[in-house]
Amino acid sequence: FDLQPWHTFAVPSHSDEGIVVTDLMQLRSSMRAAKDREVPTLVLGGGSNVLFTEDFIGHVVFNRLMGRSLHRGEHECLLHLGAGENWDEVVQWSLAQGVGGLENLALIPGCVGAAPIQNIGAYGCEFADVCLYVDYLDLETMEVVRLDAKQCEFDYRTSIFKRELAGRSVIIAVGLALATRWQPLLGYGPLKSLAQRSDLSPLDVYKAVVQIRQSKLPDPKQLGNAGSFFKNPVISQEQFAQIQEMHPDLPGYPDRPGWIKVPAGWLIDQAGLKGCRRGKAAVHDDQALVLVNTGGATAEEILSLARHVVAEVENHYGITLDPEVRIYDKYGELCW
Ligand code: FAD
Ligand code: EPU
Repeated sequence: FDLQPWHTFAVPSHSDEGIVVTDLMQLRSSMRAAKDREVPTLVLGGGSNVLFTEDFIGHVVFNRLMGRSLHRGEHECLLHLGAGENWDEVVQWSLAQGVGGLENLALIPGCVGAAPIQNIGAYGCEFADVCLYVDYLDLETMEVVRLDAKQCEFDYRTSIFKRELAGRSVIIAVGLALATRWQPLLGYGPLKSLAQRSDLSPLDVYKAVVQIRQSKLPDPKQLGNAGSFFKNPVISQEQFAQIQEMHPDLPGYPDRPGWIKVPAGWLIDQAGLKGCRRGKAAVHDDQALVLVNTGGATAEEILSLARHVVAEVENHYGITLDPEVRIYDKYGELCW
């Protein structure tokens, strides 16, 4: 099965098997059959956060469990969404229904079912802020389980689905709760100027976010990539102060008490790595946190570039970057 068209890095890769599933019965029987044959399995949505370093020897399931419903309550609007829905289409649909709350999460590629996994976030909003529940198929019991938002243990780019439930859960649907009284989230730098507008609508914020994103993030249809390759590191206040002695411009944003989040894009940029290449893999010119496939790159080239970036940032700042992208070899997820 040719995986290249099914993931946004678009590197050559194959799996032994690939199947698109559109309902729960099909998902259950496909996962059960793979388990009985002791074949490794991998569930994908839009393939926009993965890198395949080898041909995968197992069974790949493309989750296309669809469905959207919306119920207007007095204080909240409740959305129930199938995991296979496209995230940005859902955001646009909710706005077309006159429901605000998802506009800051505009244009994030991929499917609804992947949104809880790394707790997608952008421009001052995270999936966790709007999540009511997540429904998943437990692969040990083959039962459907519902977790409320607290049970999902969301944090920056992580959740229970990347920890205890990794490898034993397939997300099939999510429930969102959006406040009926819309409050714009304009804390992120370039959105602040919108606060002056008295007639601001959720659609205006959506359009502003799209504009910001298009000005720096490459369109995977034109330039293969998986968004931020690394997470923004969170370091202790002491370490931050030490690095600032040598690099007074070092930016940082307060995280939990005593900890500072540092923009990895700035570190990579200031280490002089913009435009750095390994074969056809490159650090993106407009956003150094994104590694791109300039056409015909291999996974080896992307990995070699990523390792070089990590080593250079370590040399310059003593900070170790961790990948955000999920990296797979022939058996499953690779420990970086
Ligand atoms: P996939 O890449 O298909 O899968 C990602 C991981 O989730 C894999 O480990 C996969 O096995 C697992 N998975 C997928 N679906 C399921 C399921 N139903 N059940 C269980 N496991 C599943 N992310 C952000 O947070 N914020 C951003 O602003 C952002 N911007 C991006 C911009 C670009 C240009 C690109 C290419 C990516 C960006 N991303 C961003 C990353 C990506 O869009 C998100 O991680 C998204 O949620 C991935 O969705 P997907 O369906 O493509 O997941
Ligand atoms: N910066 C540079 N040079 C660069 C890139 C960034 O100096 O080449 C500086 C910017 O000037 C800015 C700071 O770094 O001061 C942060 O940059 P930006 O606002 O572009 O956001 P980011 O921290 O690089 C994060 C997310 C993105 C998300 C944006 C917007 C992570 C790992 N990435 O990027 O998510 O869209 O914020 O909220 O947290 C993704 O996860 O794939 C992703 C794209």
